[in-house]
Amino acid sequence: MVNLAAANPFRPGAGHVPPYLAGREREKGEFGHMLEQEVVFENMVLTGLRGVGKTVLLEALKPIAIQSGWLWVGTDLSEASSVSEETMTIRLLTDLALATSNIKIGDTPAVGLGPSDSPRFLDFSTLYEIWALTPGLSADKLKAVLELVWSYLDPLGKRGIVFAYDEAQNMADHAEKEEYPLSLLLDVFQSIQRKGMRFLLILTGLPTLFPNLVEARTYAERMFHVVTLDRLNREDTEQAILVPVANSGSTILFGDGSMDVIYGTTLGYPYFIQYVCRELFDVWTANITAGEDLREIPMREIIDKLDSDFFAGRWARATDRQRDLLGVIALLENCADEFTVQEIVEKSQELLEKPFSKSHVNQMLGSLSKVGLVYKNRWGKYSLAVPLLDSFIRRQLQTLIPSSGDWEAEVAEHKPDDNE
Ligand SMILES: Nc1ncnc2c1ncn2[C@@H]1O[C@H](COP(=O)(O)OP(=O)(O)OP(=O)(O)O)[C@@H](O)[C@H]1O
Ligand SMILES: [Mg+2]
Repeated sequence: MVNLAAANPFRPGAGHVPPYLAGREREKGEFGHMLEQEVVFENMVLTGLRGVGKTVLLEALKPIAIQSGWLWVGTDLSEASSVSEETMTIRLLTDLALATSNIKIGDTPAVGLGPSDSPRFLDFSTLYEIWALTPGLSADKLKAVLELVWSYLDPLGKRGIVFAYDEAQNMADHAEKEEYPLSLLLDVFQSIQRKGMRFLLILTGLPTLFPNLVEARTYAERMFHVVTLDRLNREDTEQAILVPVANSGSTILFGDGSMDVIYGTTLGYPYFIQYVCRELFDVWTANITAGEDLREIPMREIIDKLDSDFFAGRWARATDRQRDLLGVIALLENCADEFTVQEIVEKSQELLEKPFSKSHVNQMLGSLSKVGLVYKNRWGKYSLAVPLLDSFIRRQLQTLIPSSGDWEAEVAEHKPDDNE
């Protein structure tokens, strides 16, 4: 008997904790090793395309750190956090205070704090006061605060503090305003880590993050271990689907045939898995109620809905000429990987009456990067910044030029073992 009352377990959405976090054991293990460092030499950059699962993995690392005796602080880094060195400092002190505000301290004349009538704690006002009282540059002031906090951690039996920041690709220095908040963060952590204090940085963000760090400080290359999250393989994709369905109490069956179609369509990208399965779960539940065929997979309708929910807004940000360029890119054989300006120029000569020049392609890729549709890697090659954007573009081309390809054939072409 089919249980129709089971709630839909799937959770497509930015930062929504999945019903079951599939795979990612290697990444968790690497983080676990990092926590064992006596002196912090390695910090982590956790990077990957939109929707690949960076935010939810970061959340899953938190209990691992806490279990190993670390405190955990951090949040999303909005652009406003890195407007200036002072806003960056306020961000760090605010987050730090949330973890330290119940640590009681005595009078600490060494840092210039005067006697106080009531007991003092390492709360925001104390941290801020120490920062304000310490002479020197912004890096010296911040280091003084962290050194003081460190002196209270050991007696409490804490190994250190993890500073975890999501959306860290938003951080930037602003030379024109002589404000270097990103460099400040790197300088301070590098310096206190060298002195043996265990403050560990874990920064999460889009693939532009690590190049940004290295551009600000070349030593960032040695300071961070880069973990790039990829799509899930076939086995993990199945787990991401079967475990939640079983736990939901539903008796809907996602059989091998459905798995082939789901994997062929989503290619194991977590956001798309959640999205497609949420739709399928609803459709199948409704079909059973209506006494209809259970096995039918209305993938065309689901993909149409996905196109308007997820891709259309991004596509709308591109001008007509940019769409032509993206169309050319989507027809490159290596478009789902990385491609060069030269390859685009050559393909456009093959396809368009008015092909693109090299400088034009360069300039347009620059503006497409700004709207988050492509990104340039450290070796000067480009990639699409949104997973499966290439097949979306081909579907648009097909609407405009029906002979340009058949997406259904494309889906069928992706054999289940593609990613294994
Ligand atoms: N390992 C996983 N197993 C199952 N579902 C996952 C997994 N990782 C992520 N998801 C799901 O994928 C979606 C996207 O996850 P998340 O928001 O963490 O991605 P992200 O990489 O942070 O995206 P963005 O670049 O937009 O910030 C969420 O719905 C989440 O529940
Ligand atoms: Mg995220």
